[in-house]
Amino acid sequence: MGEAAAILSEYPHDIIDLNMGCPVRKVIKKGAGAALMQNPKLAAQIIAKVVAKTTRPVTVKFRSGWNHQNITAPEFAKMAEAAGAQALTIHARTWSDGFSGQADWQVIKQVKEAVAIPVIGNGDIKSYADGLKMMRETGCDGVMIGRAALGAPWVFQPDQSHPALAARLFALNNHLELIAKFLEPERCLGRTKNHAGRYFKGISGGAAIRQQIYAARSFQELSSLTRTI
Ligand SMILES: Cc1cc2nc3c(=O)[nH]c(=O)nc-3n(C[C@H](O)[C@H](O)[C@H](O)COP(=O)(O)O)c2cc1C
Repeated sequence: MGEAAAILSEYPHDIIDLNMGCPVRKVIKKGAGAALMQNPKLAAQIIAKVVAKTTRPVTVKFRSGWNHQNITAPEFAKMAEAAGAQALTIHARTWSDGFSGQADWQVIKQVKEAVAIPVIGNGDIKSYADGLKMMRETGCDGVMIGRAALGAPWVFQPDQSHPALAARLFALNNHLELIAKFLEPERCLGRTKNHAGRYFKGISGGAAIRQQIYAARSFQELSSLTRTI
């Protein structure tokens, strides 16, 4: 990880965020992701090595703990701070929760009270108002929104009215342009369609639009849909 951080220093970037919260089995099997919550000594070594090899801030994202019998996030947070992390993100679910059940925001409060560095809270924020509520209830310094932002990039705005079709098409078009800039769109057409489809969830006529999206045979066809719907 230290060597990887050194290589990265040759490229433009703002921070290095270490993901110690990933629950995916193939990641866990290697002792990575959320499995590091069961091995805080190794996690500390990784953080310290990365900090030593970069001039950028290093942040760490982790979960409440491995399972409900082991809510270790506050100690893990102290360890990460002592190892040199400059901010923390806590997803208030355990590894055993995966992405289900309700996030326990109390753990975010405990983490915030355990350290002096900025704490970003995460888990079950579905709107701008939810984000403010988490900050109020836990004292966290910032929030991170995951699933609620998929197909809804406007979730970060204070205005909570449901965007009209034109605004959705505009946002999707923007998203597709970014995909074309950063990915090989034809290779990930399936994933791209999945994202595009989400922009029309819950609006009248949305199902028909999603059908058109899924019928697209190329990225060009998909992109031109945003101009013809
Ligand atoms: C499809 C998907 C991919 C994700 N990929 C990452 C990732 O690469 N890195 C990361 O730190 N978290 C990742 N997460 C976790 C989210 O950042 C977030 O912690 C989690 O979804 C809980 O927040 P939410 O309740 O707002 O969705 C992913 C989540 C989903 C659903």
